[in-house]
Amino acid sequence: MSSPEPQTETANVPRHVAIIMDGNGRWAAARGLPRVAGHRKGADAVRATVRAARELGIPYLTLFAFSSENWRRPKDEVMDLMELLKLYLRREIADLHRNGVRVRFIGDRHGLSDDICALMDRAAETTIGDTDLTLIIALNYGGQGEIVRAARQIAEDAAAGKLDPSTIDEACFAQRLDNPDVPAPDLLIRTSGEQRLSNFLLWQCAYSELVFDDTLWPDFGHAELQRAIDLFGERERRFGGRSG
Ligand code: IPE
Ligand code: IPE
Ligand code: MG
Repeated sequence: MSSPEPQTETANVPRHVAIIMDGNGRWAAARGLPRVAGHRKGADAVRATVRAARELGIPYLTLFAFSSENWRRPKDEVMDLMELLKLYLRREIADLHRNGVRVRFIGDRHGLSDDICALMDRAAETTIGDTDLTLIIALNYGGQGEIVRAARQIAEDAAAGKLDPSTIDEACFAQRLDNPDVPAPDLLIRTSGEQRLSNFLLWQCAYSELVFDDTLWPDFGHAELQRAIDLFGERERRFGGRSG
């Protein structure tokens, strides 16, 4: 019989991991392939990473799939990305549901096509009772846009006399963000060696630990996620306080 896993192995598992999945284009270019081949392989890495997150006991995983700025890419690449998103949602929902994965979304639904919105609704509804892992897909998402949407709601409530402006604080503001009941990411990972946020989760990452990994997203999987979690485990989180 093998000896039990030491308790400390799971003691430092982050509650919420958010990932900026970057490097699909470079992965394809390095092989002389079209960019879409990188995005396709990127979808395989999503599958592997969702499985790994479940195995590692991470309760919340947010994946940046399409930013509000990605519309600036050439039309054919945007179309390829949208087709792959649809394919992923169509093909994976049953499997995700079987594996206890709840699917939710953040981002601005305006600008997304009706068929994608319908697939998003179906994914969310099918998996609403699943509790092993919550997978949050950021689609047409930008942190500034999310903050502006929250501010607009607050302004509307104040203008309608439903909210006293003097009571607006961080908690009241956070309630108007896209997924107010999801805890802020403990760990933010960006692949492909780029070291920037690219407008991802600007409010929520105020105190997230950042890990930049050189792996290109299509090559990311269990080992890379484990490595980021190990790095996270070595960090001391002080939240502005002090340790001693
Ligand atoms: C990430 O890979 C996928 C999306 C942004 C949708 P990229 O397409 O940004 O790949 P690189 O950065 O060009 O290598
Ligand atoms: C960020 O990657 C968006 C996603 C991963 C969906 P980009 O490749 O679009 O970011 P920039 O343009 O290099 O900052
Ligand atoms: Mg990129």
